[in-house]
Amino acid sequence: MMLLGTGRAVPEKILTNTDLEQMVETSNEWIIARTGIKQRHVAEPGTALSDLATEAARNALEDAGVTAEEIDLIVLGTVTGDMKFPATSCLVQEKLGAKNAVAFDISAACSGFLYGLQVAEGLMMASGYRRVLVIGGEVLTSMVNWQDRDTCILFGDGAGAVVLGPSDGERGLLQTCLQSDGAHSGLLYNPGGGCVNPPTTENVAAQLHTIRMEGKEVFRHAVTSMTSVLKQVLDQAGLSGDDLDLLIPHQANLRIIEAVAKRCKMPMEKVFVNVDRYGNTSAASIPIALDELRRSGELKDGSLVGLVTFGAGFTWAAALLRV
Ligand code: ACO
Repeated sequence: MMLLGTGRAVPEKILTNTDLEQMVETSNEWIIARTGIKQRHVAEPGTALSDLATEAARNALEDAGVTAEEIDLIVLGTVTGDMKFPATSCLVQEKLGAKNAVAFDISAACSGFLYGLQVAEGLMMASGYRRVLVIGGEVLTSMVNWQDRDTCILFGDGAGAVVLGPSDGERGLLQTCLQSDGAHSGLLYNPGGGCVNPPTTENVAAQLHTIRMEGKEVFRHAVTSMTSVLKQVLDQAGLSGDDLDLLIPHQANLRIIEAVAKRCKMPMEKVFVNVDRYGNTSAASIPIALDELRRSGELKDGSLVGLVTFGAGFTWAAALLRV
């Protein structure tokens, strides 16, 4: 498959670190030093992820010069869909008017977009789909506990989308690797809202619908796993970090990004960073980055780009993309 177009959409409202200082015991300096985050876009309560995802998808379709009716497949990576069911991708399909598409969601937390990319490529080969939308989007602030300073400073909302078509033989996904390990599911999870802890008054009062995280442990696993999976796809392709024109890591924490870059011998000049402006947007972070780079002209035709991510599950993944 190859990249035909990109798009993104983020809520207008910006929450700065100074704003957070008024909400929890924290400081702008601490947040910047420990995470690199300066601000994040935050959706108004009740915002539909399907609206953000649809806007991102429309922008990607326009960029690609593809109509909604031409789309055969919509894959949406998210853990904060509009509702438990139907799949948010079906709502996006309706809002776009993508009448000829099949649509489903993927739950792989921050890895949802890269999982979606590989699933899309597999289905393009197996089923002959020619025009595909892969979207990553979250309204993560809908499951943030704004009293918990360990987590509430980290997350932001948004959506990113790509339109894919069949590879021309030179451009496309060269290598991908998806991995997961459920042994660590208890280090980063959202306990409420599912069948185990349904949204009863007691469970909501106990904040079970919000994010639980052991930050230090997640940090450690993120660095190790992102490094090893990136090295793995480079090895499989017979390449090294030097061969990459650009690395787009999942934007969770600047210190995670720097640690992975160092271990993969990638100079920071070749590593894309926008976590300072968006915070961690989970499945949206890589497609938002791709769109920013494409629209600024930095995603050059023929360039070799590494993508790498890590998220709850744990799930992690890497891909090499010839643009
Ligand atoms: N403001 C001020 N102080 C704080 C804050 C805050 N917001 N949060 C924690 N602290 C305090 C702690 O209470 C602790 O105080 P103590 O030493 O008196 O006990 C001190 O700061 C250090 O806390 P740590 O948790 O050790 O800080 P750390 O350097 O590990 O940074 C952080 C915490 C930013 C959460 C980091 O662990 C992290 O980014 N982990 C990865 C989390 C992540 O990215 N999760 C998202 C999903 S997975 C993914 O996308 C990769």
